Amino acid sequence: MAFRRLCERSLGSFSRGFLCPSQSQSRTLASSAAARGRCEALVYHKHGEPLRVIQLETHKVPQLHDSDIRAQMLAAPINPSDINMVQGIYPILPDLPAVGGNEGVGQVLDVGSKVTNLKPGDWVIPSDAGLGTWRTEAVGNMNCFIKVPNNIPLLCAATLGVNPCTAYRMLCDFETLKPGDSVIQNAANSGVGQAAIQIAKAMGLKTINVIRNRPDLQQLTDSLMSMGADYVITEEELRKPEMKELFKEVPKPRLALNGVGGKSATETLRHLEKGGTLVTYGGMAKQPVTIPVSALIFNNVKIRGFWITQWKRDHGRDLLQEMISKLCDFIQAGVLRAPVCNKLKFQDYQTALTAATTPFISSKQILIM
Ligand SMILES: NC(=O)c1ccc[n+]([C@@H]2O[C@H](COP(=O)([O-])OP(=O)(O)OC[C@H]3O[C@@H](n4cnc5c(N)ncnc54)[C@H](OP(=O)(O)O)[C@@H]3O)[C@@H](O)[C@H]2O)c1
Repeated sequence: MAFRRLCERSLGSFSRGFLCPSQSQSRTLASSAAARGRCEALVYHKHGEPLRVIQLETHKVPQLHDSDIRAQMLAAPINPSDINMVQGIYPILPDLPAVGGNEGVGQVLDVGSKVTNLKPGDWVIPSDAGLGTWRTEAVGNMNCFIKVPNNIPLLCAATLGVNPCTAYRMLCDFETLKPGDSVIQNAANSGVGQAAIQIAKAMGLKTINVIRNRPDLQQLTDSLMSMGADYVITEEELRKPEMKELFKEVPKPRLALNGVGGKSATETLRHLEKGGTLVTYGGMAKQPVTIPVSALIFNNVKIRGFWITQWKRDHGRDLLQEMISKLCDFIQAGVLRAPVCNKLKFQDYQTALTAATTPFISSKQILIM
């Protein structure tokens, strides 16, 4: 249903149609390469494995209309949902051909005559999914963008709109937590997980962070601890009776964040406090979440889901801007850093796509335009 609604609203072609469902007047984003008036973009004409279907194309930059802005894209990450969109297995899909990428930061170059809230030099991020950020230059309706301070680190701005927002909402919206309370999460080294560690720390919460075992486990543990993680444990340790010792030091969590699914979700759930909430936001293991009957009957746990795209559409620009401002305050105060990133030149997109789909890579691939 969501798919149909979005496709009907999108404008349909590469040159007139990134997904920006809140804007009926949306026009394309396109990008400019070295030659003025031309842009480069990572385009797919059919769904499939990104390395097979994504290609670098040069297109003309669309004309600027009164309510449009033109922005030079500076940096854009490759997130799992971007990959799923290209594969054609995400709940919202743009009309084809489409430009990949849903997140990133651009610098405003030019504004239409009716644009009052943005000016050249401002930094902007997409206000919704479907923008097609893997391009060098973009033209689109001003309401498809949110301004961010242009003095925050580039990688923070490029990765701000999805994962930190998701982590922030999940920490704020499902349980009323107070300083000293704890939160447990799997995929703790994911972009969402790293944001959750840092935001939770800023809120005075303790985090129990579950990761998959790997050869460089100590290095990853140290990295997460340096961000503010209180405990880092492996999936195997999560299943051991020794976990009881941990809960002599820290209260049992009332909130569990699940980005994996399968056994990991079930094991994470076992450690929830009675009446606590498991929030599923991702399914990296591609396996269903199984809830033990005892957890429902005797522990009365709440099982919820969260999708930041829906939150943004339900809550509107003002609340989105408020949240972005709050997160930028965290960044400027030095309590929220970008996830561990690997910067690659835009033209090296194939290397970036390969790394983005490799397990245990532990870094977010960022295209630098
Ligand atoms: N619902 C929402 O609003 C929302 C918002 C943002 C993200 N998400 C979802 O959240 C998930 C994480 O996104 P992200 O951008 O934070 O990811 P990311 O930075 O690319 O990290 C991917 C994470 O998934 C883990 N992982 C990969 N394959 C796995 C498997 N088979 N079993 C267990 N863990 C596995 C990785 O662990 P290793 O290092 O061990 O490989 C890593 O921790 C994705 O599913 C994404 O779509 C949802």
